[in-house]
Amino acid sequence: MFVTVEGIDGAGKTTVVEAMRDEFEEATFTREPTETWLGDAVERAVGDDDSEPLTDLFLFTADHADHLRRVVRPALEEDALLICDRYVDSRYAYQGATLSDRLDVDDALAWVREIHEPWTVYPDLTLLLDVPVETALSRKEAGDKYERAGFLRDVAENYRRLADEDRFVVIDAARDAETVGEDCVNAVRSRLRRG
Ligand code: TMP
Repeated sequence: MFVTVEGIDGAGKTTVVEAMRDEFEEATFTREPTETWLGDAVERAVGDDDSEPLTDLFLFTADHADHLRRVVRPALEEDALLICDRYVDSRYAYQGATLSDRLDVDDALAWVREIHEPWTVYPDLTLLLDVPVETALSRKEAGDKYERAGFLRDVAENYRRLADEDRFVVIDAARDAETVGEDCVNAVRSRLRRG
């Protein structure tokens, strides 16, 4: 089974993934951006206030293609429990927001999704950590170009749109970390029981 964890910067993904590591010791854990040279290129773009949003999209997407081939597809072929910290929905939500004024399309999120659809693999379960932007930002130190209130509001709005799909479970992540972690673990357990 394939589980992804999503949310705006400061939503508490790291703590949730730690809780899942304690609970699902047999699982394979992975993340996007990855820890490869492609992931390094992505991190450089995230750290560069002046990089072109389309360049960022295609760097993130190149990293995703490599991640699919190297980690995601092999783990799913072995029927592993695979838990991924950020995945395609980060691109749909974040680059859907960075590109909303820059493309000659009505719906940037839908366009980013179209680029992925013919070749990506969707998760069985996506945990969306939902938290007010102010709470999220108060949890972070001085941030990169994505960690700004107005921008994160657009990202959060995109995530809410995506969460209409059945694979999403929305978790109230404004609560204390332990409760949020328990809810996430329970959501995975209940999805595992359903098979
Ligand atoms: P991280 O904080 O989870 O390491 O992610 C790094 C930043 O990159 C974070 O601000 C979210 C952003 N991001 C995107 O904009 N698009 C993507 O596809 C991914 C995976 C991350």
